[in-house]
Amino acid sequence: MRKQIIVANWKMNLSNIEAESLVDEILKATLSLKDNQQVVFAVPFPYLINIKNIIGNKNSFFVAAQNCASTKNGAYTGEVSSEMLDGIGIKYVIIGHSERRLYNHEDNKVLKQKVDLALESNIHPIFCCGESLGTRESNNQNTFVEHQLRESLFQLTTEQIKKVVIAYEPIWAIGTGKTATSEEAQEMHAHIRKVLSTQFGITTAESISILYGGSVKGSNAEEIFNNSDVDGGLIGGASLNATEFLTIIKSLK
Ligand code: PGA
Repeated sequence: MRKQIIVANWKMNLSNIEAESLVDEILKATLSLKDNQQVVFAVPFPYLINIKNIIGNKNSFFVAAQNCASTKNGAYTGEVSSEMLDGIGIKYVIIGHSERRLYNHEDNKVLKQKVDLALESNIHPIFCCGESLGTRESNNQNTFVEHQLRESLFQLTTEQIKKVVIAYEPIWAIGTGKTATSEEAQEMHAHIRKVLSTQFGITTAESISILYGGSVKGSNAEEIFNNSDVDGGLIGGASLNATEFLTIIKSLK
């Protein structure tokens, strides 16, 4: 059975104290997660070890980094390598979030290097893809997303791609309050799975979790997650509020 995952993408938010109490509140809530369901907190680098320790060996909860370097090591001031993340026991890393593509000029080629290095360090990349409003309005979203997948993921072996989680995040829906409709999400997720199946085969494509991201909140999560090709969500704003985030987790099918 495919994994269903809810990722909290805190971005550059919360103080250390706020972060601790948010995670505490979520951990002490009664959640009956199924064996194939996971919750991942993608936290700023300085909080990784602390949040990981707070979670301890609680099943189904993990910590992720929000980024990693595109080079293995060396004179790259301010960068953090996947090997370092692996060294402190981190299992997931977000790669290619649209904010990094935009503000840090990360292109498909650089993201390919990051994906390769993360996998080399046994870390699951949470690979983000998604089109801008202009691309959607000109109805080029399918080719655009296919291109992102091809350029950053098609070098992988079947064994490697199985370790990747995909997050479809239409840029026009991120932090805008505007969500893709349930139909738009399902349609793109099915397309992504089809693209993956052309390169890696149907069985492999069927095993890959594809998350939806972009203004998911307590009130719309269930409808989005109910689609057959949507395997959870990447949650920004709504992950900063315990009540809201718990409702989202409980909306998993
Ligand atoms: P949002 O962000 O939920 O605030 O729209 C999603 C994301 O950027 O991952």
